[in-house]
Amino acid sequence: MIDIHCHILPDIDDGSKSVDASLAQLRAMADGGITDAFLTSHYFRGHYQYSKDEYKAKYNTFAQEVAHQQIGINLYPGFEVFLLPGIEDDVQSMGLTMGESAYVLVETELNGRPTDDYGSMYQLLRKGFKPILAHVERYVGVMLNPYEAYNLMIQDIYLQLNAGSLLGSYGSKVESTAWYLAEQGWAHFIASDDHVRSSYEHMLAANIIVSDNIDRYTADLLFDEHPRYIIENKRIQRNYVKVLKDNSSNRLNRRSAGFFNRLFR
Ligand SMILES: [Fe+2]
Repeated sequence: MIDIHCHILPDIDDGSKSVDASLAQLRAMADGGITDAFLTSHYFRGHYQYSKDEYKAKYNTFAQEVAHQQIGINLYPGFEVFLLPGIEDDVQSMGLTMGESAYVLVETELNGRPTDDYGSMYQLLRKGFKPILAHVERYVGVMLNPYEAYNLMIQDIYLQLNAGSLLGSYGSKVESTAWYLAEQGWAHFIASDDHVRSSYEHMLAANIIVSDNIDRYTADLLFDEHPRYIIENKRIQRNYVKVLKDNSSNRLNRRSAGFFNRLFR
C-alpha cells in the first residue's frame, strides 16, 4: 500500500512532534504493508508557512535518518495546501506538489467550503496541476449533499477519503458519506491523514473492510494503483467505477445493497 497523505515529517505542522515518534510510526507502517509514503505537511499561509528551503532541509534530514535506520519505506515530499485566493502562485513558485508529479493535495474549510474554493482549484488546473481534495467526506456540504463530490470530480478534481472515516473515527455521518462516495466510485484514493497521535492501524483495517464490503479490485485501486500513478506522474481515470458498473450489473447491485444495509442497520 501507498499512503499519499500523512503528517509524519516532524516539527513542521500539527503532526509528529519528534523524530523518534515518526520513526516508530514508519516502522509500524512498514510492518503493516505500507511500501511508500508521501510526507504531506500542512501548507497554510499565516499558520503553517515556510520557505521551500526550510521544508527541503527538514525533509532531507529526516529522509536520511529513515535510510540510515533501514526502514523499508520509500518516502516522497508532499504538502496539504490550504486553498486561498492566489495560492496557485505559491504552489508554482515553491513546487508544493506530490513528489515530482503535477498532483497537488488541497484542503479547505471543513464546516463550509468557501464559494470560491473551486475557483482556487480551477486556477491550479489552468496552470497544469492536478488537484486532489483531501478527506472530501469530511466537508459538511458533501455530507449534506454527496453530489457536491461528484460535481467536483466531473470538473477534474480528484478525491481522497480518510481511512479512519470508513471505520467511524469521525462519527457516523462522515462514515456513511465515505462509504457512499467509495461505493459510487466518487473517490480515487484512501489515505491515513495520520498525525502520529495514535497507533497506525486505520489503513490496514480499512483496506480489509473495503475489500470485504466492495471488492478487492477497488481496494487495490484506491490504496495502491492510483497512488502509484502519482509516483509515476501518470493521469488517473476519473470515472473508473462507472466503467466497471457498465460491464457488471451484479457489482452495481452488490454495492447498492451494501450501502442501504449500512444505512438501515
Ligand atoms: Fe491532513
